[in-house]
Amino acid sequence: MSAPIKVDDVGEIADRLRSTGYLCGPDLATTTYLAIRMGRPLLLEGEPGTGKTALAEALADAWQVPLVRLQCYEGIDVTQALYDWDFPRQVLHLRAMEANGKASSTGLEHADKGLYDERFLLARPVLAALQQSPSVLLIDEVDRADDEFEAFLLEVLSTFQVTIPEFGTVSAAVPPVVVLTSNRTRELHDALKRRCLYHWVDHPSLDGEVAIVRSRAPEVSASLVQQVAGFVQQLREEAQLVKPPGVAESLDWARALHHLGATELNLENAAASLGALVKYREDADRLRASLESMLS
Ligand SMILES: Nc1ncnc2c1ncn2[C@@H]1O[C@H](COP(=O)(O)OP(=O)(O)O)[C@@H](O)[C@H]1O
Ligand SMILES: [Mg+2]
Repeated sequence: MSAPIKVDDVGEIADRLRSTGYLCGPDLATTTYLAIRMGRPLLLEGEPGTGKTALAEALADAWQVPLVRLQCYEGIDVTQALYDWDFPRQVLHLRAMEANGKASSTGLEHADKGLYDERFLLARPVLAALQQSPSVLLIDEVDRADDEFEAFLLEVLSTFQVTIPEFGTVSAAVPPVVVLTSNRTRELHDALKRRCLYHWVDHPSLDGEVAIVRSRAPEVSASLVQQVAGFVQQLREEAQLVKPPGVAESLDWARALHHLGATELNLENAAASLGALVKYREDADRLRASLESMLS
């Protein structure tokens, strides 16, 4: 099997991702490079808003392949991930056959076969990714799904093929690049982790965050970005918030301030735009009380 997406070295990963606006440090670039070259899923774990989902999007963008996204949630099951049969269309088909007199008792077996035709197969993300390869399959927020679902994923990620009893086996011509993300609301199983290459995505350094915001929101003044990133770094370290802001919030905040016409951070515009930065009432209250001292 050929490589799903071609990449020669670690530098190429970083360069291509940067060309889409995604910035990654050498460690993440290396793990991503290895995942692609070794055909292993990439498991990204970290706080919300640290760019885990965005990495998968950037990979698909950089290599111009489809991004197939499976958003996990509590109670997700195999039919939502793999495939389902289009029941209403199957019924219509049967009715049409009946009307044509084709579904007589002798033709029943034939009619039954016709019902499990590819036309009536609804490919959900995992099957779609196998069919569309090369592609990037993003299995997002896998920590929200339950154990059983994890076991199912493990199987698919080991074989990159899916057997549909009524239909046959579908395998990927070229295995997709798989990115799993987890916000670590629970620990994933060792078996799944063992299958993957792992990277913990941390909040970026000050310089890293400035570069990311500059890359994503070039319209915002450079000095404002510097102040926003500095303030957010300080918040993460000191403020003991219920939910410390991620890069997503830094970006939102910088853009919000820009929309308020700000070129420098001050008490007034900071207070007015807090809703872009913190999303818990307790955090907003705490921040409002300490804004003055933090900005002085
Ligand atoms: N390293 C990065 N380079 C460019 N943009 C980033 C980076 N990290 C985060 N972002 C931006 O921050 C936002 C949140 O990222 P996201 O991938 O949704 O976070 P997560 O999936 O970790 O919760 C997105 O708009 C994303 O583009
Ligand atoms: Mg995400």
